[in-house]
Amino acid sequence: MLSNRLSSITPSVTIGISSKVNELKNLGRDIINLSIGEPDFNIPEKAKSVGIDSLNKNETKYNLVSGIKILREEICKKLSNENNCIYSIDEIVVSNGAKHAITNALLAVTNPGDEVLLPKPYWVSYSEMTKIVNAVPVPIETEKSNDFKLTGELLEKYITNKTKLLILTNPSNPTGAVYKKDELIDIANVCLRNNIYILADEIYEKICYTDNFVSVASLSNEIKDITITINGFAKSAAMTGVRLGYSASNKKIAKGINAIQGHLVSHPSLISQYIGYGALTQCGDDINNMVRTYKHRRDLITSKLDTIPNIEYVYPEGAFYVFIDLSKIKDKFDYKESFSIEFCEKFLEEYNVAIVPGLAFGIDNYVRISYACKEDYFLEALDRLNVFVSNIMQSNTINNY
Ligand SMILES: Cc1ncc(COP(=O)(O)O)c(C=O)c1O
Repeated sequence: MLSNRLSSITPSVTIGISSKVNELKNLGRDIINLSIGEPDFNIPEKAKSVGIDSLNKNETKYNLVSGIKILREEICKKLSNENNCIYSIDEIVVSNGAKHAITNALLAVTNPGDEVLLPKPYWVSYSEMTKIVNAVPVPIETEKSNDFKLTGELLEKYITNKTKLLILTNPSNPTGAVYKKDELIDIANVCLRNNIYILADEIYEKICYTDNFVSVASLSNEIKDITITINGFAKSAAMTGVRLGYSASNKKIAKGINAIQGHLVSHPSLISQYIGYGALTQCGDDINNMVRTYKHRRDLITSKLDTIPNIEYVYPEGAFYVFIDLSKIKDKFDYKESFSIEFCEKFLEEYNVAIVPGLAFGIDNYVRISYACKEDYFLEALDRLNVFVSNIMQSNTINNY
């Protein structure tokens, strides 16, 4: 008999789509894949060479569980200089990607049955990670009129005596919305009053097209104390396969995370840590160039979306996604169970474009497009979306007469 927890976990929709895309590609189909949240850039050369040097120096033995000292020192400098958050190195735990840092944090602060609040739309893995640790995901309905951002007032309605943690993603995946300082203060004050931890997932922090990014932990010392900041190198430094992320939290939580990580994985691969160290110390310009390119793409994709009738979208101020509202098409589209899943399946089958159904993020009227790819790809994909959408609208008009 296998564990009961398996029956409650849904396999990752985005990974499922990637497998389908590979299957179709193997059959010779030319697929435009806008489903994956992965930069199309390579790791900056300077970061790579720091990793290679570490191998040549035989830095390959077991090391500190929480990560090599020089990397944690650099992370502290970064958090202080860029985020206005003062942490000491024993408050940082480096892990195998942000996913691992989040799971570590959930293991360290939740007990079975504790409730974890997830403002909708939420990143696909939060709900499943929560279930894996035997806590309970509680989705929060947010308002489209507020770009699906959480407010203190809304948050208050979902708090029970079992609420342990709020997960706040800023900038958001899938909407690209960015919280302003006063919005964060409003939310964090509710958490403070109710003894709720905040897991602030700031992995897209660098990919932010406004200059108003604020880290939750910078708001006050009290707020910093209840906040676990999560960050990583996958998105900002195009290091998805290197698997490197980290958490910054108060000493007690960091000690707990350290104890858990020590038994599960010891520490992330040393070469990954050196590559991350190289990215932090030598690759600021490369990262800025990537962000400039994403911004240019954001401008292009939104201008193009503005020309497509019958769709709306949340204007993205960060990350590299657009969350597209297909409510007007939903009524006209013939589907059985999930509109967004069946819409995306048909779009892939008939138009050779892979995008992610909104249901994966908890909202079925929407789809998510990633623009972390060449302009030609997403512009061509949007032409096909335009044709698909207008065909749906027209075929229904004909049926109506
Ligand atoms: C909001 C968010 N957090 C965390 C992650 C995971 O990052 P990593 O690849 O470092 O595990 C992702 C990846 O898509 C993400 O979108």
